[in-house]
Amino acid sequence: MEDKPLRSRQWFGKQGKDGFIYRAWMKNQGIPAHQLQGKPVIGICNTWSELTPCNAHFRELAQSVKNGIYEAGGYPVEFPVMSLGETLIKPTAMLYRNLVSMDVEESIRANPVDGVVLLCGCDKTTPALVMGASSVDIPTIVVSGGPMLTGKYRGRDIGTSDIWRFFADHQTGQMSDEDMYIAEACMARSQGHCAVMGTASTMACMVESIGLSLAGNAAIPAADSRRKALAHLSGNRIVDMVREDLKLSDILTRQAFENAITVNAAIGGSTNFIIHLLAIAGRVGVNLSMDDFNTAVRKIPLLANLQPSGKYFMEDFYYAGGLPALMKELHTQLNSEAITVTGNPISHNYENAECFNRELISPIENPFNPIAGIVVLKGNLCENGAVMKPSAASPALMQHSGRAVVFENIEDFNHRVNDPDLEVDKDSVLVLKNAGPKGYPGMPEVGNMLIPKKLMDEGITDMVRISDGRMSGTGFGTVVLHVSPEAAVGGTLAIVQNGDMITLDVPSGVLHLHVSDEEIAARKSTLILDTHISKRGYTYLYQTHVEQAHLGADLDFLKGSSGSEVARDSH
Ligand code: FES
Repeated sequence: MEDKPLRSRQWFGKQGKDGFIYRAWMKNQGIPAHQLQGKPVIGICNTWSELTPCNAHFRELAQSVKNGIYEAGGYPVEFPVMSLGETLIKPTAMLYRNLVSMDVEESIRANPVDGVVLLCGCDKTTPALVMGASSVDIPTIVVSGGPMLTGKYRGRDIGTSDIWRFFADHQTGQMSDEDMYIAEACMARSQGHCAVMGTASTMACMVESIGLSLAGNAAIPAADSRRKALAHLSGNRIVDMVREDLKLSDILTRQAFENAITVNAAIGGSTNFIIHLLAIAGRVGVNLSMDDFNTAVRKIPLLANLQPSGKYFMEDFYYAGGLPALMKELHTQLNSEAITVTGNPISHNYENAECFNRELISPIENPFNPIAGIVVLKGNLCENGAVMKPSAASPALMQHSGRAVVFENIEDFNHRVNDPDLEVDKDSVLVLKNAGPKGYPGMPEVGNMLIPKKLMDEGITDMVRISDGRMSGTGFGTVVLHVSPEAAVGGTLAIVQNGDMITLDVPSGVLHLHVSDEEIAARKSTLILDTHISKRGYTYLYQTHVEQAHLGADLDFLKGSSGSEVARDSH
């Protein structure tokens, strides 16, 4: 600490008028003078909000972090940033991920903090905070809010993935309105984020496997007292990280990203993982592309028997040994020397881990499913790539050709999908356009389109579906997502017509539209883009600067870092 002066001393260590002002207003909170005299000042970046139910317990969690910071000799300062409640925010939380990252970045840089604790939970809150902090690059540790306890409905375990099943059963009359009301009260029965391996849990596993949290962070339930203990220990640790000057860029190396990708395959993580990790890599200058995510090529098997790819819930995962136990199984596939927030190699996180449930965390030599990860598809329908999650798809549809049934946008889909006259059968390929980053805007989670009711009535539960949108991490099905370039910028998706033949070949990584190059070019030459660009506000900024999905859908001018220095001083 003596070698490198604390950043906060540029505020609280000043003499004269400036120092007077910086300290005097802080003292209105009842802070004794010694708290501002040379202790590491630790920001706690809090996404608490009653409009983000998954993060609604974060004030309590922040208190545990503070206890740890005080104990280690630091001084905590909690500050709010915009929070993103996945279930409530319209038109989609993804529209605002980049906005939150700007809020986080500027809040950290502009204030007298030496280190920061990121309190993350609901889906987008994790990538948004990590992206923003990465563009400042001071010592940073993540504390996730933890998953909810498993839902209980009429004697069976339920979680977010069951919503799609409930809705299908309701559509076909197998569930009454009353059953639905009962189920909705049974599912989210504790504080915390979604209890399955959806995007929130995927992101919590990401921060642990990439080295940004203490071991165990990913799976401890929000309601478990050990979540608070982990928050306390993280408060301890960030103070030492400041003393050691262990910054985000020391941890977020290419090796660390590779570890996160490998682990994501083995846990059956959300397809949203790819878009968020690409965006984070863009902030820290690590060269990552879609091809790096093709873990199927590297044959990483699915080890975790967790919904939506399997049976169990995050609570069970923790009791089974959590992410450290799973990573121990993967140890030959990991870059064991990658440094974590502890300052130690990541192997320290898992080398002594134990597994207590082999049905949930399988041995690598006898995996739960040999097919895992995210497959990156290429072809004339997605020149820059598309993604799908084979472990959540139907094996019978992995190689499939069918006629396109095209919907121009999600409203068109909602309007016509259950029309009895819709020309669709079980072999059809549902195609949804204009759900991409720029076109919607914000790339909503609508890619796992509902099966047309008349097919559901015949017992059809899955079909090949293709879009430039995303899918909830809790969703499942043979769903091709993130088609890039999107329809709204004139990608080939935009010219697909009803009746065109499409082939999905997952083993070969191909998505092909059986239309000649000449015909594609002819159709594109007369294409009128169905894109409404907002005239003002953040949405205008977003639509004019958002990058395509294969690049992470960040705003082009947010790539990279501006560091932690503030050049000018206004007093
Ligand atoms: Fe917040 Fe699922 S809705 S994590």
